[in-house]
Formats: sequence, C-alpha cells, structure tokens
Amino acid sequence: MTFVRAIFSSSVGWKMINAVSGLSLIGFIIVHLVGNLILLTGTSEAFNQYSHFYETVGSLLYVIELMLVSIFILHIVTAVTVWFSKQMGRDISYKNSASAGSPSKKTWASQTMIYSGLVILVFLILHLVDFKYGPHYDVSNEIVTTQLHLSDGTDVRDMHKTVIEVFQRPVQIIWYSIAVLLLGLHLRHGFWSAFQSLGLNHPKYTPILFRLGIMVGIIIGLGYLAIPVLIYLKGATS
Ligand code: HEM
Repeated sequence: MTFVRAIFSSSVGWKMINAVSGLSLIGFIIVHLVGNLILLTGTSEAFNQYSHFYETVGSLLYVIELMLVSIFILHIVTAVTVWFSKQMGRDISYKNSASAGSPSKKTWASQTMIYSGLVILVFLILHLVDFKYGPHYDVSNEIVTTQLHLSDGTDVRDMHKTVIEVFQRPVQIIWYSIAVLLLGLHLRHGFWSAFQSLGLNHPKYTPILFRLGIMVGIIIGLGYLAIPVLIYLKGATS
C-alpha cells in the first residue's frame, strides 16, 4: 500500500503509470493493426472469421475490454495531470524549444503530445461508433438491429461490409488519415519518452530507443493509413 501511495503521490509516479499504460496501448495498437491488415491481404470471410473469433472467447472478451478501457483512462488521466503540472510553471520545456542535447527531447512531436492525444481520443470514440457499435449486418446482408450475436457460429456479423462502407466515404478517408498520422506522431515521441519516464536512461541504448520510436511511429502511422486509403482506391477503381 505504501508503494502504491508513493507512486500516486509523486509526479514521477504519475509519469511512470503514464509510461506503462502507453506501452501497453502500443501493444494493443500493433495487434489491432496486424489483425486489420487481413482487410488488405485476405478475403472478406477471413476478416469476418477473425472478427468473430473475439466473440468466441465469451466473457473473457468483457474482461479484456474492461482492462483496455481502464488502461486508456489511466493513460489519459496521468497524461493530463502531468501536462497540467507542467503548465503550472514547474517545467519550461514547452516554452523553450532549444535543443536539449542528443537526442533532443524537444521535437514537434513532443510539444504536441497533449493535442495529438486529444485528437486520438476523439478518433477513438467516433471509431467505436462507426465499427463496434455501427450497423450489424448478418451474412445475408440484412441489417440486424440488435447488438447481440447468435452463438451458434453461423450467424456471423459481416464486419467486413461495415468497414468497407465506412471507407467508401472521402470525408472518412481524410479524417482517418489525419488521425492515424497524428497517432504515428504521438507514438514517435511516446515510445521513446516512456522508457525515459521509467528511468531507463543509458548513453548507449537511449539513442537506439529514440530511433526505434521513429520507426514505430512511421510503421504504425503508415500501416493504419494504408488500410482506409487502399480500400477507398480499390473501391473507386472497381
Ligand atoms: C485505420 C484502420 C482501422 C481499422 C480498419 C479498424 C477496425 C476496427 C474494427 C472492425 C473494430 C470492431 C471490432 C469488433 O467489434 O469486432 C475496431 C475496434 C476498435 N479499434 Fe480499430 N481500426 C482501425 C484503427 C484503429 C486505431 C488507430 C485505434 C487506436 C488508436 C483503434 C482502436 C480500436 C479499439 C480500442 C477498438 C475496440 C476493441 C474492442 O472493443 O474489443 N482502431 N477497429
């Protein structure tokens, strides 16, 4: 209990929670990207099977979703708290954009973390409305008005159709593109910064983590960008 109290009563502790929750979310974001790449590489059946797989784990899905939501909330609360404490004047880093040595902590990505984070939050809410709570089609393309699924495995939700419909709208492509590029920017700094917050600072490994952060940002940003853009282009040419 003393340890938990110590963590929550210091700004270093809040930063550590922010770091661990952020790294966990990166784990989810990578798994989610790999799964969604089936939209580009596989058939509609393969994607619906993948999507349906999560339903088959039963109540474990609720446990995983609860954990995911808790981690998101923890990440947002700690990020906003740390940001406010910086704004109160303790930290001058957002005002002073001069170099902080090599590799510099002060990049465009680092100075816009709170704003890119807020856009990602808005994106996430709209994303869930579009997909998770979007129209439920069954395999015969009838709209199913209930959010519940039959458990016999034959009446699978046609998630593929929902996704393709969303990615036929140019406004959605523009919005997704902006949001996922900001996600890449957010992770470009967030990945590296998380290790700093955890005190893992080493003259040899810190520059490697910094470069790894750039790669993570680019791969995730471009990976998520490719899905809506290629689906849109494929639809437009067919
Ligand atoms: C741009 C490509 C993306 C596609 C095609 C996509 C697709 C989907 C689909 C189909 C679902 C519904 C899953 C279901 O209910 O069975 C979903 C849920 C979700 N997506 Fe995405 N997604 C994308 C990007 C993102 C990004 C960038 C994030 C995070 C920042 C994200 C976070 C989530 C979360 C948290 C859920 C809810 C997961 C759950 O409740 O189990 N997605 N996504």
